[in-house]
Amino acid sequence: MNQIANKQTPVHAAAGIIADLRRIPKQLSPALFYDQRGSQLFDQICELPEYYVTRVETAILQRHAAAIAQAIGAQALLVELGSGSSIKTRLLLDALPSLAAYVPMDISRAHLLESAQALAADYPQLDVMPLCADFLQAFTLPQPQRAANRVVFFFPGSTIGNLDTVQAKKLLTRLRSMAGNNGGLVIGVDLVKHPDVLRAAYNDAAGVTAEFNRNMLVHLNREFSAAFDVASFRHAAVWDSPQGRIEMRLISDREQVVTVAGESIKFAANEYIVTERCHKYTLPGFRALAQACGWVTNAVWTDDADQFSVHYLRAA
Ligand code: AVI
Repeated sequence: MNQIANKQTPVHAAAGIIADLRRIPKQLSPALFYDQRGSQLFDQICELPEYYVTRVETAILQRHAAAIAQAIGAQALLVELGSGSSIKTRLLLDALPSLAAYVPMDISRAHLLESAQALAADYPQLDVMPLCADFLQAFTLPQPQRAANRVVFFFPGSTIGNLDTVQAKKLLTRLRSMAGNNGGLVIGVDLVKHPDVLRAAYNDAAGVTAEFNRNMLVHLNREFSAAFDVASFRHAAVWDSPQGRIEMRLISDREQVVTVAGESIKFAANEYIVTERCHKYTLPGFRALAQACGWVTNAVWTDDADQFSVHYLRAA
């Protein structure tokens, strides 16, 4: 395995956090979920009975791994955005014996290192080149030792849904330019469905999503000299039908003033921080978005109930 490349410091400057907390409504970047504890909690979310996203996408990847591998082709440089534990990647790696290299990319350094080491041990022939970086910022791809035929990005989990339209377009356009005319993008996209299913997925009975949400404040307390009374914030996940998205919130139980990096942030009782938005797409809606960013849809795989979709995009 290669050394971790591109340490970016600091990914989330305190000034940006303060500015987000002064907006109306208050906001925080979902990237702040993923300290080590947050990454562990997210892995637990993926196992929850209500959170169909991971289960259904994994089943699609399992069922269509050979076709996806064929679309990716031989000797590709496979770059995974937000690789986390790289669990789904293994399904593709098993079907892709001749990759030039695999680049797992994540902002959680400890988690990235741990999973890259496990992958390198399980796939001794594979060149694993971990990259610690935020994919929303500019990043440079490492040069593999074996020459690559093409660059293919892998962006599973419907993380694209956590970006607003402007951010999503910016990212898809940048990936298109990095992939070049010969490149590709395998992307998982969650689909619009009954609101009850969506609400349950983000308000699980065991309270793991609530802990994941509140852990963002624990992270801020530890890393950004904040003094949130974490127990005074409650989790909510609301389906916004006109916008087609779940909105995750942390609601202050009372009026309070919280110090963050030396600044005072006032909360009214029941005032909330938006911590994440999870957009759900229709198939034509996502196809049009991809097209506007220079991609053409080469193939789409879905489950039988059309809950989730995996797209293979090629340069238009
Ligand atoms: C990472 N992302 C795709 C998840 C989602 O479903 O939007 C994050 C998540 N938030 C709460 N549960 C899962």
